[in-house]
Amino acid sequence: MLALLGGKPLRDVQSRPWPSWPVWGEEEKERLVRALESGIWSYNGPMEQECLSWLREYFSSGMPLLAANGTLTLQLALEALDVGYGDEVIVPALTWQATAAAVLDVNAVPVLVDVDPDTWCIDPSCFEEAVTQRTRAVIPVHLYGCTADMDAICSIARKHHIAVIEDAAHKFGAQWRGKHLGSIGDIGSFSLQLSKVVTCGEGGILLTNQQDLWERLEALRNCGRRSSNMIADASGGQYGLEGDFIQSGNYRITEFQAAVLIEQLKRADEQNELRLRRARYLDSLLSICPGIRPMPFDERETKKAYFNYTFSYDEKDFGLPAEVFRRALGAELGIEVDSCYQPLNDCTLYRPLTKRRYQISPEHRKAIDPSRFTLPVSQELYASRAVTFHHKVLLGSEEDIEQIAEAVNKIADNRDSLRALS
Ligand SMILES: Cc1ncc(COP(=O)(O)O)c(C=O)c1O
Repeated sequence: MLALLGGKPLRDVQSRPWPSWPVWGEEEKERLVRALESGIWSYNGPMEQECLSWLREYFSSGMPLLAANGTLTLQLALEALDVGYGDEVIVPALTWQATAAAVLDVNAVPVLVDVDPDTWCIDPSCFEEAVTQRTRAVIPVHLYGCTADMDAICSIARKHHIAVIEDAAHKFGAQWRGKHLGSIGDIGSFSLQLSKVVTCGEGGILLTNQQDLWERLEALRNCGRRSSNMIADASGGQYGLEGDFIQSGNYRITEFQAAVLIEQLKRADEQNELRLRRARYLDSLLSICPGIRPMPFDERETKKAYFNYTFSYDEKDFGLPAEVFRRALGAELGIEVDSCYQPLNDCTLYRPLTKRRYQISPEHRKAIDPSRFTLPVSQELYASRAVTFHHKVLLGSEEDIEQIAEAVNKIADNRDSLRALS
């Protein structure tokens, strides 16, 4: 009997738990104590500098900065590009709310566009159709296991003189045509929040290979201070500031975050490779199940990386509503099985009209109302096609992966017993 109907779950998570997340060891512990004892608790400490040198070497073609989280990195990227009131920024409808919220927070208008039904990432033709005289930037999001088509996006952006901010929150370590995601557009943004594949609890990385943008970003994350404006005193200390400034606030990270981050960065490639191997194996097992389609593999994704494992589900071919299937799979495996993000034109956590600061004029209010967008692909994915679960599962063994396929088959074999729930 299926676990959802009171039967024995396929996996007993008490005796056989899934890999836990985050992964940490003595290295992180030792660093945290060292940061504590050093008394350097704020920003630009030695471990933050160590993270930056590590990232410079890793990304080779990009100049990194660290910031408080992956929402603010998007906001600072927009501010560095001087995007503000009266401007439009094109954002895919299927993403975490932060991608669009950052646009609201610089007082520009997020223009929501639909996604590609196969990759779930921004559809380049929808992007181009949405371009107007006011469009200043596009934010492709490399969602879950797939990559936005950076060839098409960069070519459309170039044609219309639009900046590209890559939201690579999900994609630390992935590459497109041999280039790191996050280093292809004008500015790349990563999240280091706990759920992400590289984490220090909260945090974000900004990446650019344009010196002028890097200088603006550096100032924007640090109350407008530019290191080039610092005046050194005779002993080499810094005591003053001169030159031009931009208005900003404190968006920095602490040395405690850096202490954890440096060790997590060192683990990233190995974990990504393991997740990729496991995801490919699971793809191969699921591809023979009717009604289940693994995510596509684009040969331009020269290094694929996974934030959560996802696949496309077909209610008719499988014979059950997606919502029932997800619950049944979660019950067999003892994990949370979800749909994708809620499309932003109807998303519980994306409510632009609730803030007075955005209500500048009736026209602006209308412009930022997400319900004005029609996004059929995103809505169908959310309602009936998307199945996602946590990337920690991909850090398990081959047997763990086989058990996921076994659970899917068990549900398929017993689908008739679930029809009453539909
Ligand atoms: C696609 C995407 N962009 C941006 C963010 C924001 O990152 P943070 O939570 O670090 O602010 C997230 C985090 O969930 C995300 O998934």
